[in-house]
Amino acid sequence: MLKVVVLVSGGGTNLQALIDAEEAGKLSGAKIVGVISNNEGVYALERAQKHEIPNRCISPGMFSSREEFNEALLLAVEEYGADLIVLAGFLVVIPKKMIQKYENRIINIHPSLIPAFCGTGYYGLKVHEGALARGVKYTGATVHFVDEGTDTGPIILQKPVAVEEGDTPKSLQQRVMEQAEWILLPEAVRLIAEGRIQVENKKVRILSEKK
Ligand code: GAR
Repeated sequence: MLKVVVLVSGGGTNLQALIDAEEAGKLSGAKIVGVISNNEGVYALERAQKHEIPNRCISPGMFSSREEFNEALLLAVEEYGADLIVLAGFLVVIPKKMIQKYENRIINIHPSLIPAFCGTGYYGLKVHEGALARGVKYTGATVHFVDEGTDTGPIILQKPVAVEEGDTPKSLQQRVMEQAEWILLPEAVRLIAEGRIQVENKKVRILSEKK
């Protein structure tokens, strides 16, 4: 069984998509064993609570230095026994030590087609503001492994979503979530649980389903 720890910062709709997929038996036996938020009182923690998933808040403000926060975050993930760490709208820079220890075992969902509208400063609504300002006709979402850069790790899955006349950052964000993010993230976890993801030369190969 693949033990999944989900890191969140806010509303947690992507966490909900994972919970729903697990409960529907669509994660090939992967199990969410813990949820960690860097923000107190966010709805994502309530979602975990409702589904009786162990959860806690670890915020930088609870510690006297960034190093102490980083250590606490790593320790919490280890205590949950994570095989896979999922960043589901986690808006904190991941400690280097965690990235090295969990190489190709941390995935992130990003609300654009990487390499467009990604990297430092592009998160949440800002990504959709950028897409609308540029006038792209298609945007979408990407699930990728996390490496030491910002949104630079190997791409696992992508799905395009059309921009519509009159879209606002909020309407576009909602459509990208519904049509791409909530589908891609559980799908990526399922593929990993099935051992079907290989990383070679920083590129992902998806092995076909065993018949
Ligand atoms: C999602 O749109 C996710 O792709 C984005 O934050 C939102 C979190 O929503 N992540 C980033 O921008 C990371 N760079 P949620 O809390 O409802 O899942």
